[in-house]
Amino acid sequence: MTNGAKRRVVSSVVLLIAISIFASIMFNERASASWAGAKVEQDNAQVAEQTMEQKFKNIQVLKGLPAAQLRPMMNYMSASLGVTCAACHVKTGDEWEFDKDDKKNKQTARKMIQMTLDLNKNQFEGKVEITCYTCHQGLGHPASVPPLPRAMQREQARSTQAFPTPQQILAQYTQAIGGKEAVEKAKTRMLKGVSVAANGQSFPLEIQFESADKVALNVELGQTPTTQKLNGSSGWLKSSRDDRAMDSVEILKIKSLAWSLEPLQLKEPYPRLTFGGWEKVGDRDCNILRMALPDKRRVRFYFDKETGLLLRRVIQTDTPIGTDPEQIDYEDYRDVDGVKVAFTIRTSYLDTNYSSLRKFTEIRHGVKIESSIFNK
Ligand code: HEC
Ligand code: HEC
Repeated sequence: MTNGAKRRVVSSVVLLIAISIFASIMFNERASASWAGAKVEQDNAQVAEQTMEQKFKNIQVLKGLPAAQLRPMMNYMSASLGVTCAACHVKTGDEWEFDKDDKKNKQTARKMIQMTLDLNKNQFEGKVEITCYTCHQGLGHPASVPPLPRAMQREQARSTQAFPTPQQILAQYTQAIGGKEAVEKAKTRMLKGVSVAANGQSFPLEIQFESADKVALNVELGQTPTTQKLNGSSGWLKSSRDDRAMDSVEILKIKSLAWSLEPLQLKEPYPRLTFGGWEKVGDRDCNILRMALPDKRRVRFYFDKETGLLLRRVIQTDTPIGTDPEQIDYEDYRDVDGVKVAFTIRTSYLDTNYSSLRKFTEIRHGVKIESSIFNK
């Protein structure tokens, strides 16, 4: 896609603004979760206010839903059927025409959305139990025959272990990363490394982290340095092509990058933590903590049962047709001045264009950061 074409898509699809411009500049260097605290909610509120039919041209079944849910739902449908946007949408030359109904799949999808909404409403008291993925499982045409040979069915051994409390899990985590002093020390950070694109190419990366709302990020894309800065509720983007203030969606993204770097400090005002059972991440047994976020989002934290370290967080956005997940994996924990930190952070989305892998080679704590670097 050329930039000109990108701009045209952007004008019709406001939600894609951040995503496409950001993508053209940052490739995979995108922020992770879409949540980073109360201020985000204000930014988000502005984005969420408009309904789908106010923002887009040809909405027939998704009427009344917040426009901000369009993108997660489209990603969700694509991933559920194992297709790209082009399976349902028309692209003329370089230009997407998302409002057109020329493709049969798009019309079928409308019927399917309506069916899914009706099933949940009429059969499951409005709970989202039936989703595109329930039937499709990554296939255009759902399978109707169970595969052979059948796996051996085993009785699940009942666990006799007592459930840990959220407080115990968090205490074990704090201990694991080096205790309360470590959390204090890790409050400011300088991280150097590379951002690895899906094609394996890597780009030098440097991040200065002062707090959840003060972070600066530099990526060398080829010879072109690209800088993003977040300072409180405003942010700036600078590259050879751009030098401008960030919009609210971009700010949301960089805030969530900051959130993914911050050592967890889960306490008030986030009191709705519950124990969520046990699951494996790779071959590690994990304790899970769940937390409800505003905006129909939920987060699950996976802590290594033995070491106590945070291995994964998954942020789920609920939509009426299914859940759109974002996953952040923390790998390669190493000791830096008595603080345990992940040297590899992997972020995965249903929309693989935005998945990212950051590998750090140097992390320093307690660095003195010139406050001017966060300014425009
Ligand atoms: C399985 C089919 C399907 C796939 C795949 C799909 N969409 Fe859609 N899309 C739809 C349907 C159906 C609508 C209309 C919904 C309605 O009428 O309420 C729609 C509407 C839209 C609209 C609103 C257009 C307008 O102005 O009315 C945009 C934008 C959009 N999709 C973007 C995308 C993007 C981006 C992707 C890929 C990530 C994607 N879609 C993948 C079926 C699909
Ligand atoms: C209850 C099961 C079920 C659910 C839920 C469901 N589908 Fe389907 N879908 C089917 C079946 C079965 C077919 C095949 C129908 C046929 O071939 O006539 C199908 C076909 C389709 C097709 C046509 C594919 C092709 O290759 O012809 C599209 C597009 C589609 N579904 C989209 C969706 C979307 C989007 C959702 C979620 C909003 C969804 N479906 C939810 C069962 C389901």
